[in-house]
Amino acid sequence: MSIGTAEIVICRDEADMHERAADAFLDRAEACLSRKGMFTVALSGGRTPKGLYERISMPGKKELLDWRRIHIFWGDERGVPPEHDDSNYRMVLEPLLRKLRIPKGNVHRIKGEKGDNAAAEYEKEMIGFFGTSGNAVPVFDLILLGMGSDGHTASLFPGMLIVADDGSVKIPGSGAGLAAAVRVGDAGRLRITLTPVVINSAREIFFLVSGREKAAALSEVLEGRFDPERFPAQLVRRAKGKVTWFVDKEAASGLGSSDYGGYER
Ligand code: 6PG
Repeated sequence: MSIGTAEIVICRDEADMHERAADAFLDRAEACLSRKGMFTVALSGGRTPKGLYERISMPGKKELLDWRRIHIFWGDERGVPPEHDDSNYRMVLEPLLRKLRIPKGNVHRIKGEKGDNAAAEYEKEMIGFFGTSGNAVPVFDLILLGMGSDGHTASLFPGMLIVADDGSVKIPGSGAGLAAAVRVGDAGRLRITLTPVVINSAREIFFLVSGREKAAALSEVLEGRFDPERFPAQLVRRAKGKVTWFVDKEAASGLGSSDYGGYER
């Protein structure tokens, strides 16, 4: 079943969600590599995608891809050095990067330790890699996203976004920026994030959402009135590419329509 251009895949449990998302990831990467000889992906941080990273880096799976032609970016990063416990780079290092033979130059880390400057540096790195100029926006083959129980995604939190006159979702004042430095929570913790325009330009977006604590937000994001200021993950309703939500039954327990896509294995 699709909502707009979104496909909702309801999985038995978190392990099943990781399996299906990993199969889909490998499938898209293989298709890109055979079609154009390269695959660009922006990974998500947080806890949820760890099982996906573990599956695609397992012996027997990782060999399916030529990692020399895959470029890895991040959807967001915390304002911390790479060895910090909160680092999204570090969160990907153990389950994925350490297990792959991937050239250093293919790993485009957001240098969170550089503070606000990290956003401008990351933006420069994307422009340099994708060869975009002016208002052109880099087009990732795939962006992986998670969602918090408040409906945030990447580092785009409630109250951060507006719907512009042209209907696009933006961070006010970020202009045509590709990456933004934002402050989050009472402590005003620094985070660097892809902006909505980059997320919505991706050829494909995968969300991974699991756990009952996210059920209320997920039903608002998928079925509620369009209000990305309250539920930032709704920004993908403006996505140009295909959006696939891999959700477990717990997270899907609040969804109204019972005929969502999903296939029994
Ligand atoms: C991050 C992520 C963030 C994450 C959600 C869900 O930096 O943490 O970009 O958007 O995807 O907070 O996190 P969990 O997967 O840990 O629930």
